[in-house]
Amino acid sequence: MIFVTGGAGFIGSNFVLDWLAQSDEPVVNVDKLTYAGNLSNLVSLGHDPRHIFVRADVGDEKKMSELLMEYRPRAVLHFAAESHVDRSIHGPRDFIETNVNGTFNLLEAVRAYYGTNLSDTEKQAFRFLHVSTDEVYGTLSATDAPFSETTAYAPNSPYSASKAASDHLVRAYHHTYGLPTLTTNCSNNYGPYHFPEKLIPLIIMNARLGKSLPIYGDGQQVRDWLYVSDHCAAIRRVLDAGRPGDVYNVGGWNEKANLDVVHVLCDILDELDPRPQGSYREQITFVADRPGHDRRYAIDARKLEAELGWTPKETFDTGIRKTVRWYLDNQPWVEDVRSGNYLKWLEKNYNERQA
Ligand code: NAD
Ligand code: DAU
Repeated sequence: MIFVTGGAGFIGSNFVLDWLAQSDEPVVNVDKLTYAGNLSNLVSLGHDPRHIFVRADVGDEKKMSELLMEYRPRAVLHFAAESHVDRSIHGPRDFIETNVNGTFNLLEAVRAYYGTNLSDTEKQAFRFLHVSTDEVYGTLSATDAPFSETTAYAPNSPYSASKAASDHLVRAYHHTYGLPTLTTNCSNNYGPYHFPEKLIPLIIMNARLGKSLPIYGDGQQVRDWLYVSDHCAAIRRVLDAGRPGDVYNVGGWNEKANLDVVHVLCDILDELDPRPQGSYREQITFVADRPGHDRRYAIDARKLEAELGWTPKETFDTGIRKTVRWYLDNQPWVEDVRSGNYLKWLEKNYNERQA
């Protein structure tokens, strides 16, 4: 049994689906279902007995302890977080609550479980894997070397500061209490079930709705894009073979300026779903920049490749085409998110089961 937090979000749900496609080991999926949690991401599992969903807050230490005792997982994979930089600028409090205090409370529950409930053999096998971000390292100039695992932390947004704090807590729990932790710091993900407040799904959704395609500032900020299933594979590999206490950077070697990404999306949409009045590029609109906007992220993922043999399978060209295709083929999912109907999924599902 593995214990996944945040498994109804974008990366967490992809991870759960990929995991259960390759393994019969059950997953207990603990998610608070904030606006970013969407159980319909997991609807293809049906009532698969290998998937146990529990709606709970990782900040509820008592509940986390009860769940750990009940399910006795051999690993905890911590995806749950507030994850959107723009939201952290408008309202940082939830980010401190979940990313800092929530991670602390979860670590406390896991420390007690690990210390008092596991045999020596179970302790040997146990892992706490913390899913983090490249944003903790701050920003790069065009000529700087990519972030490595030894790059000094320099977070610039409330989001990245809260993730940096959680990384430090995880590190401290390894060094102080001997908890067998693993931390992954990954670059920008994209792919199916990506909530359309983030750049790539927002552009695809707005393009098809005939809305403007907002580019912050000059659009020359660079991100290093990784297809989500490659991130999930990296996490599985680190869980299997990572050295307790270590940090692994995960990236796609796909540095792209935002404006170039949006041009690629418009060109693929022009081909797959042309609009009669001309290219989707005509909908591009430059808007005010994000405050404190980091200029460039780039990941040096050589440690993960050299030590654990992981490399991404998708190039940006293959991954972005699959992604656009997925959004075109899954319009009801997009419409449910856009309309807010996805928030009613729990109620709807419960009522249907009662009927
Ligand atoms: P997301 O916002 O799509 O999903 C987050 C999930 O966590 C949601 O299901 C939400 O309901 C749940 N959640 C939030 N607060 C919770 C709480 N207090 N208790 C329990 N559940 C809670 O995020 P994502 O993009 O899937 O990111 C997942 C993780 O990966 C995060 O830790 C993020 O920092 C990290 N990460 C994301 C990216 C990216 O590009 N999206 C890149 C690198 C790292
Ligand atoms: O680098 C990893 C991080 O990537 C993760 O830790 C975060 O959880 C994830 O949200 C993502 O953060 P970004 O801020 O890089 O992602 P976002 O999709 O919000 O923005 C990508 C870039 O596009 C960024 O430079 C801001 C820009 N942008 C974004 C939006 C939503 C625009 O120009 N216009 C937009 O409308």
